[in-house]
Amino acid sequence: MIDISTQIGSLKLDTPFIVASGTFGYGSEYSSIVDLNNLGAVVTKSLSVLSREGNPPPRIWETTGGMLNAIGLENCGLEAFVSGRVPELEKLPTKVLVNVVGNSVEEYATVCARLDSVPCVAGFEINISCPNVKHGCRFASDPGDCERLMKRVRPVTKKTLMVKLSPNVTDIAEIARVAAANGADALSLINTLLGMAVDLKTRGPRIANVTGGLSGPCVKPVALRCVYQVAKAKLGIPIVGIGGIRSLEDALEFFVVGATAVQIGTTNYFDPDLINRLPGELRAWCEKEELASVRELVGTFTETCGSHP
Ligand SMILES: Cc1cc2nc3c(=O)[nH]c(=O)nc-3n(C[C@H](O)[C@H](O)[C@H](O)COP(=O)(O)O)c2cc1C
Repeated sequence: MIDISTQIGSLKLDTPFIVASGTFGYGSEYSSIVDLNNLGAVVTKSLSVLSREGNPPPRIWETTGGMLNAIGLENCGLEAFVSGRVPELEKLPTKVLVNVVGNSVEEYATVCARLDSVPCVAGFEINISCPNVKHGCRFASDPGDCERLMKRVRPVTKKTLMVKLSPNVTDIAEIARVAAANGADALSLINTLLGMAVDLKTRGPRIANVTGGLSGPCVKPVALRCVYQVAKAKLGIPIVGIGGIRSLEDALEFFVVGATAVQIGTTNYFDPDLINRLPGELRAWCEKEELASVRELVGTFTETCGSHP
């Protein structure tokens, strides 16, 4: 049997396929159409200390090869999450990573500290990269802010801390370096790209927030480039690749440039069965390529065009 398990910090994932925050609810919503055993982990919708209503509608718009969204981090808040969501999450047959957001360093720390004692929470994805709220990318674009955040959050939990990076920066490797140097166990990238769409009839925006986050197949080349640049920085922690994955081949490209796991996001809306197919397809591919483990593929990228036989 080909080994497709992978390791993210202290977490062993049965498969390298994770579902991305905001695109898969809290896991159980998909349980009638997806066998959740196929997932390495579920990442929950972003969670803040207090509940958030999100942005006013319209909040999504389909684009060529993708979509724009400006949900605005709508969520039920920390205490309602603990009483209402945790009992469902405990029953999932896969690992749970809670995606955390905050307006301040203190808010991130409060969520992580509170959930540190909740056994079904395997770890955290620290979302420093939401383009759809005011100051949502502050911690992903200012190295000093990122350092302050990590210094406050790292001591409050021993659980796996994965930091989710933004592509909306000049040098993604710089922020990655700061997160890694200050205790991140893993990095996930990318969050959405800041974009917009115009309605010619009204000459106004297609979404009420004016700008939104672009995701889906159209962002894959940007996401691959980001993973490649962060992998090249050799930070010694795992990278989880996210952005536009809609087939095994897409996921394999991320492994080759240095990701040890991937997240599937927008594809869950138009092909939720992909996540069911991926583990079997990956095993078959590894067998054909005579790889005993998917880990043998990670970071095998070569910069010379056409060099692999
Ligand atoms: C409707 C929607 C809601 C999202 N909500 C969140 C969120 O709450 N927190 C977060 O970190 N990322 C959120 N994301 C970003 C995704 O997790 C992912 O990083 C991004 O969509 C790129 O991956 P994809 O191209 O496979 O969708 C959201 C994406 C979409 C499309």
